[in-house]
Amino acid sequence: MARVTAKPGDIDSAVGKAAIDRAAGVLRGGGLVAFPTETVYGLGANAADGAAVARVFQAKGRPPSHPLIVHLADAEQLGDWADDVPAAARLLAERFWPGPLTLVLRRGRRVPLETTGGLETVAVRVPAHPVALALLSAFGGGIAAPSANRFGSVSPTTAGHVRAELGAAVDVVLDGGPCQVGVESTIVDATGEALSILRPGGVTREDLQAALGRPLAVPSTSPVRVPGQHPSHYAPRARVVLVEPEQVIAEAERAQNSGHQVGALLSPAFADAEVKAHAVVAVPASMPAYARELYAFLRELDQRGCDLIVASLPPEAGLGLAIANRLRRAAGPRPAA
Ligand code: TXA
Ligand code: MG
Repeated sequence: MARVTAKPGDIDSAVGKAAIDRAAGVLRGGGLVAFPTETVYGLGANAADGAAVARVFQAKGRPPSHPLIVHLADAEQLGDWADDVPAAARLLAERFWPGPLTLVLRRGRRVPLETTGGLETVAVRVPAHPVALALLSAFGGGIAAPSANRFGSVSPTTAGHVRAELGAAVDVVLDGGPCQVGVESTIVDATGEALSILRPGGVTREDLQAALGRPLAVPSTSPVRVPGQHPSHYAPRARVVLVEPEQVIAEAERAQNSGHQVGALLSPAFADAEVKAHAVVAVPASMPAYARELYAFLRELDQRGCDLIVASLPPEAGLGLAIANRLRRAAGPRPAA
């Protein structure tokens, strides 16, 4: 199969339509299509085809017991994929789809166990990206897609990241430009009595609570099945150390002076800190910019040969909750090499 990177550009143009139709054909044939979403790029396969889904796990080097998210064109299709959608889940779907929210529901019978990693639950979301939505409607079914990176590494936010990391393992990469949200979707478990957040992400806890009219727990000990919960995940090659916000520059300088190649990440609130270090320093302008740029910056530091990244945790409110979660995972203990 030809391995192409297609820029659908204007998806209403003939060129755009042809690229989308070809990608939908690849999905029907059991192939893999990487596509942009508003959060990160996904590595997609036909969610109803167990063999195609198995190729996703292979391409990512992901253990087959880790479930994938099924992407749908609209909430109307929910009944085809999930059994028993509680009223609270419907309310969230109505309020936040298309958008960076994933709902975990009871698995509908047509969802193969390959897609759910053997679980009786299924994760579903409707992404808010015109290319993703065009692909979903041309394809007609559900697309199972994890983030399009090797297992454990940083999620891709451009088509170039996908090509660099997965290369020939992907049949088509649809290039929709850089992702606007930059961290993955918020995952809400809607299978129990009380809803809870399994992974903080692009929809904030505050917005979810406002929509539901009640508080929403973020359990700190989540099921082992959620790979984003492994100690080291979302991790660049460089070691990540977390320090207090006012210590970032001093620590970066100290490490740089003792021979490390250092990158530093300053929280927006500390943007005024005087940067004397020769380290590479990123100062995002706002929390949405921090979320949008985080993964690309981590990748860039690896590319520049940094062996150490110094960062601090932002306040864990709004998007800060997801950013702090990813930084903690990136700094988590690594498996012995
Ligand atoms: O924003 C996103 O969610 C991106 C884009 C591509 O949609 N996708 C993404 O997929 O981040 P992935 O596979 O990298 O992370 C999906 C997470 C995993 O932590 C997985 O364990 C969890 O969703 N998940 C999937 N199905 C689940 C289920 N039935 N129960 C609990 N967690 C589930
Ligand atoms: Mg991932």
